[in-house]
Amino acid sequence: MKPFILNRNLAQLALLQRIELADLKLKKIRKLFGRYLFSKIFSKYLVNVKQLSENYTNIMNDEFKTIQNFIKDKKNFLSIGAGIGGLELLILKSLNDANISFIEKNYISNKIRYGWDNLNKEGYNDLNQLDQFLQINEISKKRYQIFDFDEQKFPICDFDVLISIYSLDYHYSFDIYSTYLKKVMRNNSLLIFDTIRPEYFKRIFKGVEIIKEDTRTVHKSKRIVCKNFL
Ligand SMILES: C[S@@+](CC[C@H](N)C(=O)[O-])C[C@H]1O[C@@H](n2cnc3c(N)ncnc32)[C@H](O)[C@@H]1O
Repeated sequence: MKPFILNRNLAQLALLQRIELADLKLKKIRKLFGRYLFSKIFSKYLVNVKQLSENYTNIMNDEFKTIQNFIKDKKNFLSIGAGIGGLELLILKSLNDANISFIEKNYISNKIRYGWDNLNKEGYNDLNQLDQFLQINEISKKRYQIFDFDEQKFPICDFDVLISIYSLDYHYSFDIYSTYLKKVMRNNSLLIFDTIRPEYFKRIFKGVEIIKEDTRTVHKSKRIVCKNFL
């Protein structure tokens, strides 16, 4: 498969959103100079854009395989915390009739911390860059809309599939979105996200299925597909 087109700004963002893309040299630099200089400078100027683009494309392809069976013939998608949107690009390329609404932060923390953030203060995205990524990879503007989380004006629609990869209930609590999700999920809408507490969601949804287990990451999360709020 052809790698995604990324420029240096997009490669930097992908690296901040997917720190597993850092090679040994970048990891050492982050340790030596700290998170601030890494986030602001080194992540941009020391990254090999071509290599990163290939690696990011491969990771997104693997992510796509985990959700592929759940998106067949689906049309209206919501993505919460898409990052630059590699997975979403693959969805739009594979389903000609699909459209995606994105909710993301338009903010990059000075020193990104990757743990659980109760106040949901951390952000590592730039909405113009997300827009640019989709444009330079040939997605028509008619097929997506981007919403800034901090403006709190979210799209109201019956979504078929709602996706949040390593964002909702991975870095911040599900509660932040639960009232909204109740409004935009109808019977049999699918909500796919990564969490460390899949059991908790069995009390909230009628159907909960584990589709991926990550034992190597710090969080040891599980990817679940939920349907029908109880
Ligand atoms: C670890 S990155 C994952 C990005 C992408 N889903 C991926 O798999 O590469 C987490 C993303 O969640 C976003 N984020 C943080 N808080 C958010 C919120 N309340 N709503 C939407 N996105 C949020 C961050 O800006 C960041 O892009």
